[in-house]
Amino acid sequence: MLNLVSATVLVVAAGVLAQGANRLESRWANPYEPFQVYGNASYGPALQLEHLFYDQWPTGLSVASNGQIYANFPTAVNYTNSKFTVGVITSFTTEAAFPSVEYNQPPQGFVNPSNLNYGAGDPDHLVSVQSVVVDALDRVWALDTGRPLLDGSVLYATTGGAKLVGFYQNGTRFANYVLPPTTAYFDTYLNDVRFDLRPSTLPSGKGVAYITDSSNEGRNGIIVIDLGTGNSWRHLDSTPYTRGDPSFISTYDGMTFQPINQEPPAGTYSHLTTGSDGIALSADGAYLYFSPLSSRRLYRVPTSYLLVEPGPVNPNAANAAIAATEFLGLMGGSHADGLETDASGVIYVGACEQNGITMYHPDAGMWMPFIRDPRIQWPDTLSVATNSRLYFTSNQYWRQPAFNNGTEGRVLPYGIFSVPISAGKVILT
Ligand SMILES: *[C@@H]1O[C@H](CO)[C@@H](O)[C@H](O)[C@H]1NC(C)=O
Ligand SMILES: *[C@@H]1O[C@H](CO)[C@@H](O)[C@H](O)[C@H]1NC(C)=O
Ligand SMILES: *[C@@H]1O[C@H](CO)[C@@H](O)[C@H](O)[C@H]1NC(C)=O
Ligand SMILES: *[C@@H]1O[C@H](CO)[C@@H](O)[C@H](O)[C@H]1NC(C)=O
Repeated sequence: MLNLVSATVLVVAAGVLAQGANRLESRWANPYEPFQVYGNASYGPALQLEHLFYDQWPTGLSVASNGQIYANFPTAVNYTNSKFTVGVITSFTTEAAFPSVEYNQPPQGFVNPSNLNYGAGDPDHLVSVQSVVVDALDRVWALDTGRPLLDGSVLYATTGGAKLVGFYQNGTRFANYVLPPTTAYFDTYLNDVRFDLRPSTLPSGKGVAYITDSSNEGRNGIIVIDLGTGNSWRHLDSTPYTRGDPSFISTYDGMTFQPINQEPPAGTYSHLTTGSDGIALSADGAYLYFSPLSSRRLYRVPTSYLLVEPGPVNPNAANAAIAATEFLGLMGGSHADGLETDASGVIYVGACEQNGITMYHPDAGMWMPFIRDPRIQWPDTLSVATNSRLYFTSNQYWRQPAFNNGTEGRVLPYGIFSVPISAGKVILT
């Protein structure tokens, strides 16, 4: 069945794209061939192959109501020929810079020229984007960490690097929230973002953005940006909820995985330490769901607590949000790198350790299997589109050289798949 689906996609792709068709055919005629697959278990709706990446390594993606797919590529200054960090899909196998080549190339480079341990602090160019999200008004947001990868290390951010930038689909920038060092520390890693654009969320009337800080360095938290004032603050800062589990060890394709450091001390066995990563808003905007990458734990917190800025006016706000955070349980034997909600309230949870995606029904507290397929080699970011399909990237994340003693284990191509679901995108406007 998987072979049939792939073959159909291949016929379509070959018709559209004469160039590269043979390569595609040999790669995807047998869907197991590109990956080291150790089992063929599958269930759920058939995957549709939407895009193949033959060049840069993708993490996030998002789909506009006209079907246009946006994707992003964290900048790796030395490993790969990083060409642009935000892209728009232009064909089955090609991408182009978005909003422009120029916006993706800081004139001073990606590294801070006066301190090579830091990324460029360039507020008006994209340095290294970890997530791209099309909001309910069809606008494209780029979440820039300011922290490119250089020689196997993730550089620290210089102020100006960490920011949330909004573009219309025609490429015009309409917002640029450059985060101050009190919100985005030099070791903050802005990972993923969700929007509630309802005027009622905050007094300034323009809505709110919620962002996970997944930093490997442990100062994890949830960042809130008031889209009306540009003011920003942190919650659940350096708590066990937003940090990874100590000594976390995972399993991929049935094999236990332990990272081997490339950073000093090189060659030593280590653990993934990445914190709060996947993030989803409930369909009514009342709860924020999140999970640390290096943990199988799912949490939620009422957004009413997150919307209160901690400080002298609200001295109890930080503790109140911590006290209101609920542990919802373990996610069925997998950690997740992406969460996403549909308009019916279902939360889709990437299951990196099960080559699949799981469903969580918050009202019933019920977990269900959704899809499994050997081609799902680390579902990184999940994105529900208005056409009632769930899109996701498959990017072989754990095979990066940084976790494997410097050896590149990822095999081209990376993919975007989609599957039908029963509801569309959440619209909070
Ligand atoms: C998985 O299925 C493919 C296609 O039928 C087959 O070639 C391959 O040997 C199978 N692999 C395993 C591990 O069962
Ligand atoms: C990696 O890139 C940086 C910045 O451009 C450069 O200084 C360094 O020499 C490069 N390292 C290698 C191993 O090429
Ligand atoms: C881009 O789109 C925005 C929003 O639709 C519009 O206001 C603006 O005029 C457009 N700019 C250009 C250059 O087309
Ligand atoms: C890591 O790579 C180094 C250099 O190639 C090698 O000496 C060492 O044995 C490797 N360590 C492990 C744990 O594979």
